[in-house]
Amino acid sequence: MAQANIGVVGLAVMGSNLARNLASREGNTVAVYNRSPEKTDALVSEHPEAGFIATKSYEEFAATLSKPRTALIMVQAGRGTDAVIDELTKVFEPGDIIVDGGNALFTDTIRREKAVRETGINFVGAGISGGEEGALNGPSIMPGGSAEAWETLGPILKSIAAVAEGEPCVTHVGTDGAGHFVKMIHNGIEYADMQLIAEAYDLIRRGTGKTPAEIAEIFAEWNKGELESYLIEITAEVLRQTDADTGKPLVDVILDQAGSKGTGVWTVQTALDLGIPVSGIAEAVFARSLSSKPAQRAAASALPGPDSEGWNPGDPDAFIEGVRLALYASKVIAYSQGFDAIVAGAEQYGWDIQKGEIAKIWRGGCIIRARFLNRITEAYAENPDLVALVTAPFFVEIMERAQTAWRNVVADAARAGIPAPAFSSSLSYYDGLRADRLPAALVQGQRDFFGAHTYKRVDKEGTFHTLWSGDRTEVSAVDAH
Ligand code: 6PG
Repeated sequence: MAQANIGVVGLAVMGSNLARNLASREGNTVAVYNRSPEKTDALVSEHPEAGFIATKSYEEFAATLSKPRTALIMVQAGRGTDAVIDELTKVFEPGDIIVDGGNALFTDTIRREKAVRETGINFVGAGISGGEEGALNGPSIMPGGSAEAWETLGPILKSIAAVAEGEPCVTHVGTDGAGHFVKMIHNGIEYADMQLIAEAYDLIRRGTGKTPAEIAEIFAEWNKGELESYLIEITAEVLRQTDADTGKPLVDVILDQAGSKGTGVWTVQTALDLGIPVSGIAEAVFARSLSSKPAQRAAASALPGPDSEGWNPGDPDAFIEGVRLALYASKVIAYSQGFDAIVAGAEQYGWDIQKGEIAKIWRGGCIIRARFLNRITEAYAENPDLVALVTAPFFVEIMERAQTAWRNVVADAARAGIPAPAFSSSLSYYDGLRADRLPAALVQGQRDFFGAHTYKRVDKEGTFHTLWSGDRTEVSAVDAH
């Protein structure tokens, strides 16, 4: 009775679209299962061309799959995922493969992989990016899990992934939770990119008085150059949209409170634990939080601000070009920080993650796809031990070209009282990174003053503590503990 080489569990929009994508590729026959069978029937009857095999129980689902059985689960992250895994492990056998394609927290994936592995079944957490459209026509896929599972899964995932410059946007990222970790960082970068674009729009609108439709044209123009990316492209479309009810630009009638489903927060929480400054991503998450505090915003709305009447950003075209450069430079920082987090995560969890490969599979299908991802791949190919992406020659050139404009834009924003948290924190990070000396020395002094936390010196080996009180100023070497 085994007739399908892959099954999909969970037929909401992402699951249905992935199932249809799978079915449309040569050699795949797809079994489908959903908790409420009406959904299964609806999908099967709406898409006869897919040749789906509808199944109504986990037993039937398992019996329909050829061995090793492979199931892609697309259910709500969290308890829903655990429940489906429980059911599948009852009907699957050692060597079979369960793939979680949802946005799971990578530590959950590590836990699940470990537990499922004990049954002899393979568990793979796979990040899938590209939204509904990507799921249907070709997403970017970031699978973790064992090398054994990848052998069976690789060809199937390659068959449905987006293709960039002739290469499928999928690679075996690393073991257990590596795929979901990298997908989480992808989303963090997505948050930063979106916030940076939003800040650019706000500055241009308030600095030049251009309408959203006019700004849409600016973004469309930017999309023809070095900033070319999916998010810039869709921003032009969002800004061009007119509200059918009011005739106003749609962006003006959308409530200005940004939602989130959690992956941005996870990125920042994880980066904090790893000790990696992902300040651009963090500011993007905080900007969403701030936007969603209407009571505080209302209470603060009469607080004093600068006399923006007096703000003159100068020649509009030059100002817009400055904003473009500031956006580009800040975006480089967001990616640089994201890759720092990947490096630290790989080290912490023992994953062998090829950074250049990650940039490659982000070139197509995913939300952060962008022209300059090729340059990231090249940078890591040239120097696999690159300590900070921003120091690779291609990115240094961008910094050289952009930094003056970047500083002016951040200063302009501050003078005009326009919030630009991602622009300005990215610039501060850049300046912090390149500083010869940081005031961290003073912080160390303060720590030693109130807590005898000790410090190191620039001119001597060892650990030191100063007796700060009274008139004694001796410095004493102390043991390192
Ligand atoms: C993708 C997206 C996708 C989704 C997130 C973001 O890569 O396809 O990142 O995973 O849109 O859920 O959502 P929030 O903005 O709601 O956190």
